[in-house]
Amino acid sequence: MGQSMSLKLGSTVGLFLLFTSGLVLAHQHREYDPKVLSHGQQMFQSHCAICHGMQAQGTVEDWTQKDQDGRYPPPPLNGTAHTWHHSVTSLVRTIKNGTQVIGGSMPAWKDELSDEEILSIILWLSSLWPEEIYQAWMQVNLKNNP
Ligand code: HEC
Repeated sequence: MGQSMSLKLGSTVGLFLLFTSGLVLAHQHREYDPKVLSHGQQMFQSHCAICHGMQAQGTVEDWTQKDQDGRYPPPPLNGTAHTWHHSVTSLVRTIKNGTQVIGGSMPAWKDELSDEEILSIILWLSSLWPEEIYQAWMQVNLKNNP
């Protein structure tokens, strides 16, 4: 019942349900479907790498230093900055809406990328993170998606 309902919703809600259970599984095994990962990597490298680096390592020396306009540069997303402080839900929101609406310079992606594409990018990113960071992120997610 629960499953057919989430399939019928076929929307973000359904996806989040699936994704959340995926995360709980990942919490135990940290195994990802290699197809999803390579899709996420491809999407990231064609849309995001120009600002965040091909391996999400960042493109500036110090991502904590604002530029002359008072804006933050693109941070690394490979586990060396603070991306893991944000739950999946909040990362999806940032990627969809960008940060220009709140005075930053990250473009919005909601018209370019589907929810699946955004989620596969996030999964690929999290696959780069050291175990310790990943587990800390799981705690953040479990708090946000009980
Ligand atoms: C034009 C440059 C640019 C592109 C392209 C870009 N970003 Fe960003 N991104 C930024 C900047 C700058 C920030 C820092 C936030 C701000 O603007 O204050 C950021 C922040 C983020 C954050 C928040 C990180 C954190 O630790 O809080 C995430 C997640 C993110 N970007 C993901 C992506 C993804 C995924 C893509 C591709 C779909 C992408 N970005 C494409 C510039 C970019």
